[in-house]
Amino acid sequence: MENDILIQTKDLVKIYPMGSQDLVALEKVNLTFKKGEFAALVGPSGSGKTTLLNIIGSLDTPTRGSAIVMGLEVEKLSHKKSAELRNKHIGFIFQTFNLLPVYTVYENVEFPLLLSDVPASERKQRVMQALEWVKLADRHRSKPNQLSGGQSQRVAVARAIVKMPSIVLADEPTANLDAENSHNVMQIMEGLNKELGMTFIFSTHDEKVVQYMRRIISLDDGRVAKDEFVKSVKKRV
Ligand SMILES: Nc1ncnc2c1ncn2[C@@H]1O[C@H](COP(=O)(O)OP(=O)(O)O)[C@@H](O)[C@H]1O
Ligand SMILES: [Mg+2]
Repeated sequence: MENDILIQTKDLVKIYPMGSQDLVALEKVNLTFKKGEFAALVGPSGSGKTTLLNIIGSLDTPTRGSAIVMGLEVEKLSHKKSAELRNKHIGFIFQTFNLLPVYTVYENVEFPLLLSDVPASERKQRVMQALEWVKLADRHRSKPNQLSGGQSQRVAVARAIVKMPSIVLADEPTANLDAENSHNVMQIMEGLNKELGMTFIFSTHDEKVVQYMRRIISLDDGRVAKDEFVKSVKKRV
């Protein structure tokens, strides 16, 4: 169904000018993502995963082609409109967590709500609800340096979902986590996908992440080499 489509890229090209030789990071990428997907971009380092996520997240614009996100062509948006799109509809998770060190866990998760007009009375409830999703409500007064890597990434997940975005983009979210914490954080995101219907798009080359996916898109030198929907549930190791 047309209105189930959250993201569509059309002949997306990204070129970084590099002196005399241009670097082609994305070469005519055509992809469609529907509501509720749990999908990963996989491929070796330099294959274009981060570039594609950043364009979908309207943090970057394509050189040619189009990315339509929530019905908006990101390359045509003003700074204000693209900030609005991110603010309303997109949550980001990064491999380095990117928590603000001087703020508490609570304040880190509250931060996106301060950028929109959520009344103070409602903020507390939403922050604590998000922290409950990631099982860290009891650590809301801690500072990031008092947390393990796994806990830090769970705070980052809470921050990404506190506004109940339609789309969550996670760029190598387990790259700095051990196996146990990787599974832990993937299971939390899988739960958010299944129970709240949030759409997740990952970039990864971690087999532990891939085994949770229902769709695996392989990038090779900026091109979509493969796009597979997983039918059977794979055994988790
Ligand atoms: N800001 C930039 N300036 C120049 N080249 C870049 C920039 N960002 C990425 N690239 C290049 O674009 C290609 C794709 O990079 P990237 O999307 O980061 O790949 P991946 O996330 O799969 O490792 C790489 O060759 C990378 O060096
Ligand atoms: Mg990357």
